[in-house]
Amino acid sequence: MNLLGEPRVGVVLGSGLGAVADAVEHPVVVGYEELPGFPRPTVSGHAGRAVLGSIGGVPVAVLQGRAHLYEGGSFDAVRAPVRALRAAGASVLVLTNAAGSLRPEVGPGSLMAITDHINMQGANLLAGPNDDALGPRFPSLRDAYDPALLDALRESARELGIALAEGVYLAVGGPSFETPAEIRAFRVLGADAVGMSTVQETIIARHCGLRIAAVSVITNLAEGMTDEPLSHEQTLRAAEVGAGDLARLLLEFIPRLSAFIPDPRAGGPTDGAGTPTPGAGDATSRAGGATPGAGTPIPRAGDPTPRAGTAPPPPCSPLS
Ligand code: HPA
Repeated sequence: MNLLGEPRVGVVLGSGLGAVADAVEHPVVVGYEELPGFPRPTVSGHAGRAVLGSIGGVPVAVLQGRAHLYEGGSFDAVRAPVRALRAAGASVLVLTNAAGSLRPEVGPGSLMAITDHINMQGANLLAGPNDDALGPRFPSLRDAYDPALLDALRESARELGIALAEGVYLAVGGPSFETPAEIRAFRVLGADAVGMSTVQETIIARHCGLRIAAVSVITNLAEGMTDEPLSHEQTLRAAEVGAGDLARLLLEFIPRLSAFIPDPRAGGPTDGAGTPTPGAGDATSRAGGATPGAGTPIPRAGDPTPRAGTAPPPPCSPLS
């Protein structure tokens, strides 16, 4: 058996956001030291363990702790957990993080669904030889943050009465926080929130056909927007405030994902209406456009026929 069990949904928890792991039913805890290639977290607020079990009947693997580029370790420590989830059978990845807000009205404690990203980390962890068995050389990142999953997030938030902002997450390399001038520049670029994680995981996940939903917990207004200088301790304190709402949101959202999980007999992910959807590497194109992958229009329940030409995502090789 795979060391991660047989999850259908992977969840990566950001700094100080461990509360979701407490809600896993019938939990089995596996330390990252037992999982080949997984990081040894060096940052407080990141536990370094996987909690396997289910949430609302959906088999999950909740990863508490992730590698960041600023830790200076192997890039594999970022890639391995994502690919291990895919290899273990996950088709959806839920990414969470702590982030600074560039919008004064979205303050500490708020939640923001990520609709797109800007990678300012100066790296792309798909660089190097491509493993064609995992995914294509040039994966599309159009609709990297899955529109249908975003709808389900919105519905979950509405159901709970939780305000859910939406916006573009810009990733910096860190570990220093940004300068006020950088924040002004990032605002011009179209960023709504800034952080030091998530985008590489999204790239690796889309490459191997995982569908992504991502939520930032806003821990601070970005540098230069308030009088208080930023610190990691302040980030962790504020994360605690948002973590409660994040846990409630994900506990409502994850059970809804059963509608998106592929029927094992069909052999590929579905779109929420039970229809198989393509992975990033598929050769199908959206109607009226040339971009393959998660951006393909998604039929709703009740649509008469599934799209023609869809195929399951490329397989990921087992964790080695
Ligand atoms: N900048 C970068 N990363 C962060 C921030 C920030 O303001 N807040 C939490 N993570």
